[in-house]
Amino acid sequence: MIWKTLGIAAIVLGGALPFLRRASQRRFEREIDRLVELLGIGPGSVVADLGAGKGPYAVALAQRVGPSGHVYALEVDAGRRVQIEAAARRAGVLGQLTVVAAHQEDPGLPSDSCDAVFLRGSYHHLTQPERTLQGVQRALKPGGRFAVIDFSPTLWLAPWTPQGLPADRTGHGIDPDIVVREVAAAGFQKTRWLERWPSGANLLVPHYGLAFVRP
Ligand SMILES: C[S@@+](CC[C@H](N)C(=O)[O-])C[C@H]1O[C@@H](n2cnc3c(N)ncnc32)[C@H](O)[C@@H]1O
Repeated sequence: MIWKTLGIAAIVLGGALPFLRRASQRRFEREIDRLVELLGIGPGSVVADLGAGKGPYAVALAQRVGPSGHVYALEVDAGRRVQIEAAARRAGVLGQLTVVAAHQEDPGLPSDSCDAVFLRGSYHHLTQPERTLQGVQRALKPGGRFAVIDFSPTLWLAPWTPQGLPADRTGHGIDPDIVVREVAAAGFQKTRWLERWPSGANLLVPHYGLAFVRP
């Protein structure tokens, strides 16, 4: 009886998996559409993904900016930098994507190089946000866009709270008011606040979106 039940469960799950994968891919593509719109980018744009993780967003944006544009994927973690490069190679976009070894005190971006910079799920990891924001200011062209996609401190994620954060952080995640205050202090103007960001990959954690411009 148990084997029969397990067999039926395996067949049902096997049938549902491709459907779930397609739904997840559609959510991801919708999020990329929103990001492209928020950052005001298109073919030929130069964009930086600060805290790129394994690189899915950097790679998707490299496809959107095309061979005449460029994406800088900035990451402090060496293992993840290898994963980003592999993902870019698999997607055939290595020619328009540069993986950069970032540091907490300096993102490592060339001056006046970018039309847009964004952090998705990474701002709450910054241990020296003031220094990071100075680097973003330097890298953005005048009128360049800056976006932060993140989530408020979330109790059940507390065990994974990053180490070495500024003293005013209160858990895993970041209060949007802190982001707005710090980014404004770095000289940016807030342009948009999206209370509900359509986060494709993290359905269990509601994300918000903030957009700024470098005057
Ligand atoms: C939660 S992950 C988000 C990854 C990706 N943006 C995503 O949404 O899937 C945060 C990433 O930021 C990286 N990180 C933290 N501080 C950083 C910094 N100052 N510069 C660049 N990367 C940083 C971490 O190593 C980690 O890979």
